[in-house]
Formats: sequence, C-alpha cells, structure tokens
Amino acid sequence: MAVEPFDVVDLIHTKRDSGALSTAQIDWLVDAYTRGYVADEQMAAMTMAIFLNGMAREEIRDLTLAMIASGETLSFAGLGKPTTDKHSTGGVGDKITLPLAPLVASFGVAVPQLSGRGLGHTGGTLDKLESIPGWRASLSNEEFHRQLADVGAVVCAAGSGLAPADGKLYALRDITGTVEAIPLIASSIMSKKIAEGTSALVLDVKFGSGAFLKNIEQSRELAETMVALGTDAGVATTALLTNMNVPLGLAIGNANEVREAVEVLAGGGPADIVELTIALAREMLALAGQPDADVEAALRNGRAMDTWNAMIRAQGGDLTAALPVARETHVVTAERSGLLVEQQALPFGIAAWRLGAGRARKQDPVQHSAGIDLHAKPGDSVTAGQPLFTLSADEPERFERALEALDGAYRIGDAGDPVETGGPLIAGRIG
Ligand code: URA
Repeated sequence: MAVEPFDVVDLIHTKRDSGALSTAQIDWLVDAYTRGYVADEQMAAMTMAIFLNGMAREEIRDLTLAMIASGETLSFAGLGKPTTDKHSTGGVGDKITLPLAPLVASFGVAVPQLSGRGLGHTGGTLDKLESIPGWRASLSNEEFHRQLADVGAVVCAAGSGLAPADGKLYALRDITGTVEAIPLIASSIMSKKIAEGTSALVLDVKFGSGAFLKNIEQSRELAETMVALGTDAGVATTALLTNMNVPLGLAIGNANEVREAVEVLAGGGPADIVELTIALAREMLALAGQPDADVEAALRNGRAMDTWNAMIRAQGGDLTAALPVARETHVVTAERSGLLVEQQALPFGIAAWRLGAGRARKQDPVQHSAGIDLHAKPGDSVTAGQPLFTLSADEPERFERALEALDGAYRIGDAGDPVETGGPLIAGRIG
C-alpha cells in the first residue's frame, strides 16, 4: 500500500490554529478527499476551520488549481473565435443568462455557458429553459462544439467531469454550514470556470437579502478574489457588484422568466433586467475585443432574437409550442393607496420555491409553471385594491405557505417616503 505523504489531522490542526497550508499539502488533501482516503467528517472539520480562519491568497489559488486538476479541462482553441462566459452568484428572478448569451453571441463571439439547476430559493438557468417544450439540457461534447461553432451560444448542463472534487466538496459544505466562506466559494466557482476553458469571464457578484452574501463588502472581497484567480490562470476576468435586495424584473419562477427574457430580446422588458443585460454584455464584448459593440441596437433590431431562436432550436426546443401555464392563481392586492417602498428579494424567492418553482432536494422535479408575477416595483404608486402580485401553482394548497413567507416582505408607505432598495442596481466594478 502506498504511504500517504501527510496526515490529515495535522493539516486540520494547522488550519484550526490559523496557519497556512503548503501547495503540496493542498494538492494532497484535494486528491485524497476525491479518492475517498480523507473522510467526509475530516473534510467537514477542515472546511469549518477555513470558514472560521480564512485562507491566504496563495492557498486559495492552490485549492482552485487542485480542484481543476481533479477532472478534465475543455479547450476551445480550435474554434476560430473568442469565447466569453458569464457567471452569476445567484439571485431571485435572475434570468439574465437567457437574453445575454444570444445577445453576445450575435456579435460573433462564442458563449459556452455551462449552467446548473436551482437549489433552495435561487433559481437555476437549466430549470427555466426546460419550460420550453422539447428543450434539452444535456449535450454530447460533439453537439456542444458544433453548436458553439454554428450558433455561437450554448446553455447546457456541465458534465460531472469538470472539477469533480468541487462537486463532492460543495455537497459536503451544503450540509455542514460552510457554504458562505469566501475562499471556498471563490475556488468552487473559479475551478469550474477555468476548467471549462473560456478565454474571458464576467462575474455578476450579488449582494443583498436575496444573495448568498448579504453585505457589499463581503461581495467585493469575493469578486476581488475571483478576478485575481481568473487573471492568474490566464482568463481575462472582470466583475460587477450588483444589488439583489429586490427581485430582478417582474417574473420569479421558470416559464414566466422565459417569457420575460423573450420580451427583453424583443426590445422591451423591465428596466432593471435590460440595464443589467446591457451592462454585462458590454463587459463580455469588451473582453472579447469589441468594446464599441452596439448592444442596444441588437436588442431593438431582432439580431439577438434570431440567435436566441437558433440556440433554442438547436437544443430541440419547440418555439411554436406554448409555455406551460399553472392551473391555479392567487392575486394579492394593495390594502391601501400609497407608494410601494419595499419588496424584499429573499421572501419572494422562498415563496416562489414553496409554490413549486424550486426544489428542496437535488433529485426533486420543479414545476415549470409555478412562480410569482409582480405587478408593481418599489417606487411605484399603487391604489387600494390594485393587484400587487400573482402567485401561480398547480396545487392551490401551496398558496398558504407561500403567503406565510411573504408576510412583512413588502410595504406600502406614503408619497415622499424613502424607497428601500439598498442603492443602485450596479454598485461597482472590479477588474
Ligand atoms: N456556486 C458555486 O458553484 N459554488 C459555491 O461555493 C457557491 C456558489
């Protein structure tokens, strides 16, 4: 039997006592955990020590590289066009990938968007797209490359071969209260993105009640850490810090978010979704060598919509079929006239999840027609009896628990009262 070069308990002591792990120690730890030599309970102790004591920049880099080395890496070198990707740390009503990927690809840039499914109150891009009848999330490597060459944009499921150490570690963090550690989030996200082989990457790092990290200073630290990891690995990386205190757009769910994304591609859609789509598209195109691309025109003149249609069709989506509609709806109206001053993202995300739009366990299905449509946003004047939002679900029994989540989640004040959105939508840029 091969002799192991380190003792994991020594490494846990080092991190518990705020010491630093060497490159060789981190390489071994990740490899030994992936092959099952280091046990879950030992890795749980290690992640808690990291959560409490942090990691130095070099350790975070080593951890990221070790997780990349645990699996395969893709390359788009033979594609003949630049590749650029976007990653969002997740939020409520965040359907930006849907209009963004075809918009950017309509400028001749390849967008390989390997996405995930939702867990808890944040939605997953694949769940949203699966509301389109016939649309397929799984592609073979050959289909993936062909679509990237022909259409330019691909949104599909990441295979389990990319950074498998992260898959195992993330599942462990999820059940041990160690998700929200900046070194662990940064290495988790960036190991997958670097392994994916994109040459440029724009990060949408969210802060606020509906985000992973609640305060902007933590989000800034996460963004700076990830931009440094990407840059060091030769991926041109920038980040926007964006506000997730209020749901994005008017739709929270799956099919209704696809409808909203199509409105944006048709030149309309809610102002916040359009603003963020345009800002991220500009960042992605600048990194791909097109800083002056007229992204607004591509939304107005149908060019981005053409790429969307091609992208959906290439993955089996039937653009002529109707999107699913829920069997039951429940409308909540304004109890008084005034100004809508507050609408908190997190409770709206939880309510949509309870309606069936999200899943509590990885293996659960989602209900594509379930969700919430907002009829007013903070800053809007409302009159008594006016619909504020509509809940949709197939089973009416779900409304009660969704409404419980929304208790105190919005507030109507008087004209002139401060509107509590937590500041501008785009609060900063790193890179
Ligand atoms: N998304 C990831 O992929 N990893 C994290 O740790 C958090 C969000």
